[in-house]
Amino acid sequence: MLGVGDRSLLLSFMYPLHRHLHQHMPKPVAARRLQIKTMSTEMNNHAAPANLNTPFPSVPYHVGIIMDGNGRWAQKRGLPRAAGHQAGVDNIRRILESSVSHGIKVLTIYAFSTENWQRPLEEVTGLMLLLSLTIKRQLNELHKNGVQIRHSGRMEGIDPDLQKQIRHALEVTQHNDRIILNVAFNYGGRAEILDAVRSALADGIAPEELTEELFSHYLYTADLPDPDLIIRTGGEWRLSNFLIWQAAYAEYYTTPTYWPDFDEKELYKALDEYNHRERRFGRVLQPHS
Ligand code: FPP
Repeated sequence: MLGVGDRSLLLSFMYPLHRHLHQHMPKPVAARRLQIKTMSTEMNNHAAPANLNTPFPSVPYHVGIIMDGNGRWAQKRGLPRAAGHQAGVDNIRRILESSVSHGIKVLTIYAFSTENWQRPLEEVTGLMLLLSLTIKRQLNELHKNGVQIRHSGRMEGIDPDLQKQIRHALEVTQHNDRIILNVAFNYGGRAEILDAVRSALADGIAPEELTEELFSHYLYTADLPDPDLIIRTGGEWRLSNFLIWQAAYAEYYTTPTYWPDFDEKELYKALDEYNHRERRFGRVLQPHS
């Protein structure tokens, strides 16, 4: 899908940004930690933490993130949208580290939806190239840090070279167990359900055999537990076709903060809010005796 012409067009579009971006990028993780320790904390409605590493009584095993607001983040700074996506990618590392330190075991990030193909060609090409460059630049370090990379979405439609890179990343990291980073790329919840139905039919599953449990084994997330918490940055209140089957009983959290600005303190606020929710899964909870 990426022709030579497209690549050079995109590189020329992205290259001058790099210098400019240095001034606007999120600060390195260590520097931010230092800053956070000395920052006076204006948190959400709940108590401000003495320390962002204070353990929570309840940690969501699987967190899904709709990383929205990259474009607006860039616009606010007078930068092209591509700069926002680059800052968004940089932020993934920060939140991945912080997730590990809280004990989250699976992070599913919505990086490119089946609907995102309708964006201008330049932006689509930019996002494809960004994934490719990110794999090239960061795979070794992610692997060294025990991150297992997964992919949820359709391979079909992705440039064959990029498909190869994705498969390579999955293979190299498959035995890592510190955290699973599940990248929803060319992902759509409805497409996933349709693909699952097709696979079940192709396997000759009879209608009466099909249960929710069996069906979930046909989803891209087959061996992952359902998400406990879905976070959406950028202020919207919708799922946008993200994990629509799996999120049936997930807690939902939204913040107006744009994804590149969603830092450790923001994650803390989301987890704090999660800890104030009562998860009933459709039942009535009996009062403690
Ligand atoms: C939403 O911001 C962002 C996306 C299209 C998906 C998130 C993408 C990234 C974090 C970067 C790409 C990551 C990889 C690994 C390729 P938006 O553009 O909708 O922002 P806006 O709502 O402010 O316009």
